[in-house]
Amino acid sequence: MATVTNIQDLRAIAMKKVPRAIFHYADRGSYDETTLRANKADLDAIALRQRVMIDVSERSTRTTMIGEDVALPLAIAPTGLTGLFHGDGEIHGCRAAHAAGIPFTLSTMSICSIEDVAAAVNKPFWFQLYVMRDRKFSESLIERAKAAKCSALVLTLDLQIQGQRHMDIKNGLAVPPKLTVANALDIATKPAWALSVLMGKRHSFGNLAVRKESDSLTTLSQWIAGQFDPSLSWKDVEWVRSIWPGKLILKGVLDVEDAKIAAETGADAIVVSNHGGRQLDGAVSSISALPKIVDAIGGGRNGGTSEIWFDGGIQSGQDVLKAVALGAKGCMMGKSFLWSLAAGGQAGVAKAIEIIRKELDVSMALTGTKDINKVDKSVLAL
Ligand SMILES: Cc1cc2nc3c(=O)[nH]c(=O)nc-3n(C[C@H](O)[C@H](O)[C@H](O)COP(=O)(O)O)c2cc1C
Repeated sequence: MATVTNIQDLRAIAMKKVPRAIFHYADRGSYDETTLRANKADLDAIALRQRVMIDVSERSTRTTMIGEDVALPLAIAPTGLTGLFHGDGEIHGCRAAHAAGIPFTLSTMSICSIEDVAAAVNKPFWFQLYVMRDRKFSESLIERAKAAKCSALVLTLDLQIQGQRHMDIKNGLAVPPKLTVANALDIATKPAWALSVLMGKRHSFGNLAVRKESDSLTTLSQWIAGQFDPSLSWKDVEWVRSIWPGKLILKGVLDVEDAKIAAETGADAIVVSNHGGRQLDGAVSSISALPKIVDAIGGGRNGGTSEIWFDGGIQSGQDVLKAVALGAKGCMMGKSFLWSLAAGGQAGVAKAIEIIRKELDVSMALTGTKDINKVDKSVLAL
């Protein structure tokens, strides 16, 4: 860990530590991966404005996201199968995030359950919900999130149908991982990973374990595949709103028209996102959609009621600064989190957050900026 200086170093370690199928599950996107690449390329193409001879001795990256104090405008995005990147990965991730002063989001498709994480941490976390065909089950997840005192519900809108990820099919990704002839050799060369995952509390979807079908894994995977609901509509968002009285974050909006409707629901935050290039391939990059959405609905920074957040390609503090400059009140990171978790468990995630915080702090200084809350387009060389 001592020689790790950036997120790419953590990715390189992750690649060596976890089986191919798990690494590809995080690293790759849907179809031709055009959108996956665009997320990163478009962020990289934005230039920052170098400013000099401004007193930047006092700086702060502290701000708020939906009223919660954060050490920097960054949260851990919900990621399925987190506990397969490192045993009890959700608990390690949540502890690292909380220690660093940023929020953690637990996915519906996590390995540790809501209750496992709630019992292991001492601060509220956020729960991400996929509304499934079985609305009673979705309702029960909301009740469990309430009982666990989750401080926000992140409702994901962009997975009515799953975009195909070729590598997951080619690798035969299964939950829990199957020991086949093809992957046995691979797993044999990753003993630390095997031990950590084996020692973890669970090896399958923790939140779904209460279902009878979980006794039979084939039935469970069939159940999950059949649970994504193409009939979801804004009415379902209203339904969730009616049974979840707490903070609500709508995740997965890329279009101005959708953002306007999302804002009308009174959501506390809207995450501009294309699911990290894992859903509609050929969609615009998240960062190119962000300023249009902020212009259309205000973004909680300029008078709009819903905060606008951003995810898709966050791999450095410079990326966070660019997104904030384009109007994001906060960012989320998915892949960077998983790489760091795979690389070093809780210490790895702590390292990733600290790398990004420092990069943000230094980049603010070099753009002549002292307070993250005052960052605007003027830090960009547009
Ligand atoms: C491996 C993986 C699993 C994911 N699982 C979920 C999920 O269960 N629920 C969800 O809302 N988003 C999920 N996402 C999307 C992330 O929450 C986030 O939108 C995306 O990762 C942001 O892009 P980035 O990976 O470039 O940071 C997942 C992303 C990855 C990489």
